Amino acid sequence: MANKLYCRTFQAGMKIGNYFLGYRTPEYIEGPGSVRKLPEMIRRRGVYKVLLVTDQSLLKLGLPDGLIKAMDEARLEYVIFADIQPNPTDENVEEGYRVYKENYCQGIVAFGGGSPIDCAKGIAAKNAHPKKTVSQMQGILKVHKRIVPFWAVPTTAGTGSETTLAAVITEAKTHHKASINDPSILPRYAVLDPELTVGLPKKITATTGLDALCHAVEAYTNRTYNTREENERALEAVRLIHDYLYKAYEDGSDLEAREKMQLAAFHAGRAFTRGCVGYVHAVGHTLGGLYGVPHGLAMAVILPHVMRQFGPAVYDRLADLADVCGIKGADRKEKAEAFIAWIDEMKRKMDIPEGFDCIRDEDIDQIIKWADKEANPLYPVPVIWQYEDFRKLIETLRTAGKEAGQPA
Ligand SMILES: NC(=O)c1ccc[n+]([C@@H]2O[C@H](COP(=O)([O-])OP(=O)(O)OC[C@H]3O[C@@H](n4cnc5c(N)ncnc54)[C@H](O)[C@@H]3O)[C@@H](O)[C@H]2O)c1
Ligand SMILES: [Fe+2]
Repeated sequence: MANKLYCRTFQAGMKIGNYFLGYRTPEYIEGPGSVRKLPEMIRRRGVYKVLLVTDQSLLKLGLPDGLIKAMDEARLEYVIFADIQPNPTDENVEEGYRVYKENYCQGIVAFGGGSPIDCAKGIAAKNAHPKKTVSQMQGILKVHKRIVPFWAVPTTAGTGSETTLAAVITEAKTHHKASINDPSILPRYAVLDPELTVGLPKKITATTGLDALCHAVEAYTNRTYNTREENERALEAVRLIHDYLYKAYEDGSDLEAREKMQLAAFHAGRAFTRGCVGYVHAVGHTLGGLYGVPHGLAMAVILPHVMRQFGPAVYDRLADLADVCGIKGADRKEKAEAFIAWIDEMKRKMDIPEGFDCIRDEDIDQIIKWADKEANPLYPVPVIWQYEDFRKLIETLRTAGKEAGQPA
């Protein structure tokens, strides 16, 4: 288990290293219909053929049709790769890479939620290092090479993958879900077109929106790496989610709410790409890999439990978040508690369970081992957890899951 002194020393070194890593924010175009401008932009960059990475459900829904039509009009050739599952695997990446090479593509357009975008980042990383397996590129700074031109078009407002240095991929054989983290896979261009999110089902609107909240909250409550820019983006993301997530949930066609949620996801993604996420993600990823729990759902369920377990260590930071949302309290502690209570209330209003009853006894040690490996020493979490702390969280999740009587 993690040694606290080692973790904090590593993080102090990483803080300095971060200044040399060159975090950048992708250039982006935004607004209703903006996706149709993308093919012309791509052609102007001298790219004539792209791999369009998306998923089967989106193809069936016809969501990429507007983009495809604009590609035809701009005479931009494309090959579609859509054999991607939610929580994409290394096998999806290998297959996508094969299609990319066989068709002599010159760039990648990732269109969809975090799953297609991450898979597309994996394909780009693989193209930069054909001899490396996905698991050899997982961890930090293992790609370190310029990737092919890459455009990201998010259709959920959650992961922020269009502005992060991460690609989360599950190893098909072991079900181990882990991240490639490298500034070189950070997209250079993104398109934030709120029309693409109008048809998001209520449940996915809720869970992906709370994933974005989780990015902002974890990045803001973490220590060490953030600069003023990341802190301000995290605060802005939390404010936007507070003001607009429930509106987007209630009325999916509210274009203003959809637009604000896309911006929130973008800011939150940019905040955690430097500030990192924390134990909510580290534990949540294991549930995605082992039991196929959708990422946003895992985040939504776990977030308030982790913040509560951190206790006084996060009161001050959570009180700041309460302040930007106008959530009241007599002192810092009360404001922090009121902020967590607001998350609980959002979960209830949007029908999200309190816990999980899918966690099997025999998996608990593996979950803790993977979560510890993901988070420590890299994530500058407010409190460094030992085995018993992870165990306590898992028991909280299981008890809450049983009490609610819900399957995950
Ligand atoms: N790279 C990062 O920084 C980062 C951050 C957080 C999460 N992730 C990863 O992203 C993945 C989850 O991504 P996600 O939450 O966006 O979900 P997703 O991409 O898995 O999509 C979930 C479902 O929603 C559908 N969908 C997407 N957009 C839609 C739309 N506009 N209308 C109707 N249906 C739509 C998809 O077809 C899919 O069935 C996980 O693997 C997670 O680990 C990555
Ligand atoms: Fe996330």
